[in-house]
Amino acid sequence: MSSQLSFNHLINSNQFSHEDIFLLTDTALKLKQDDKLYQKLLSNKILATLFFEPSTRTRFSFESAMLKLGGNYINLEQGDTSSISKGERLEDMGKIISAYADIIVMRHPQKGSVEQFATYADVPVINGGDGPHEHPSQSLTDLTTILENKKRLSELNIGFFGDLKYARTTNSLIKLLTTFKDNHFTFISSKELRINDTLRVFLKDKNQHFLEHNSLEDVIADLDILYVTRTQLERTKKETISTISPITINSLKAAKKELIILHPLPRVTELDTSVDSHPSAKYFEQANNGLYLRMALLKNLLSDTKT
Ligand code: NCD
Repeated sequence: MSSQLSFNHLINSNQFSHEDIFLLTDTALKLKQDDKLYQKLLSNKILATLFFEPSTRTRFSFESAMLKLGGNYINLEQGDTSSISKGERLEDMGKIISAYADIIVMRHPQKGSVEQFATYADVPVINGGDGPHEHPSQSLTDLTTILENKKRLSELNIGFFGDLKYARTTNSLIKLLTTFKDNHFTFISSKELRINDTLRVFLKDKNQHFLEHNSLEDVIADLDILYVTRTQLERTKKETISTISPITINSLKAAKKELIILHPLPRVTELDTSVDSHPSAKYFEQANNGLYLRMALLKNLLSDTKT
């Protein structure tokens, strides 16, 4: 493989270098200007999307990205129409699907499952989310949106709001942002949904300064970015968690004019629709950027093919 990227499989956010990040985000923003730039690049290439958990944005944006690059896709949704429902092992599936597709995106409820699957696959595998663990292509989408709006990935004051314990999107993005200089983290959540111990230890080991609050009001004025996530009810017991007040347009009164609000979506109740018309709301743009970032990923991971 002659890809310029430093990885073949995209599994965890700690895999990519800053060169990888800038190559992918630059390509994504170029494709946003002109999505026909590489319209025949991946003709004859096939993407397989294997989603064992629900998805709208991640699956559709990968499938759409492949079509826009001239390729095609085959898919399988939540295992119910496949041999997984007959008890087929993921390992066997890794080998088999590699014969049918040139690249695979997989989402699975278990931490580490996509990494394990990738060891049996002969083609690049992208982690589309493994349980509460990682979602690296979403983090690259987030970084694209931050760069587009802030022109930098360092010296940022970033607030993370909502479920910080089980959300894989925040888990991946926080780790990545620690690799850039002078970023400050503020975690806003109910006490049951504070950052998990693994992330806490990671941040302490890296001497990263962070604050924890249970009210957005106390900290909103200091933030450059507010990243919101829904409560991951599929990974926790609803009755065991208390929630904090949802964000409404009134929560933003003291915010900086340049604040940007991101959310990987879907949203449930944590972010009121009254915020959608606020100039800081960038989450629909972020979802849109997911398409271009995934085009950039497919282009670069399959770049030993004709150019
Ligand atoms: C997220 C996910 O699946 O982790 N969505 C996404 O991929 N854009 C967020 C979520 O489900 O809360």
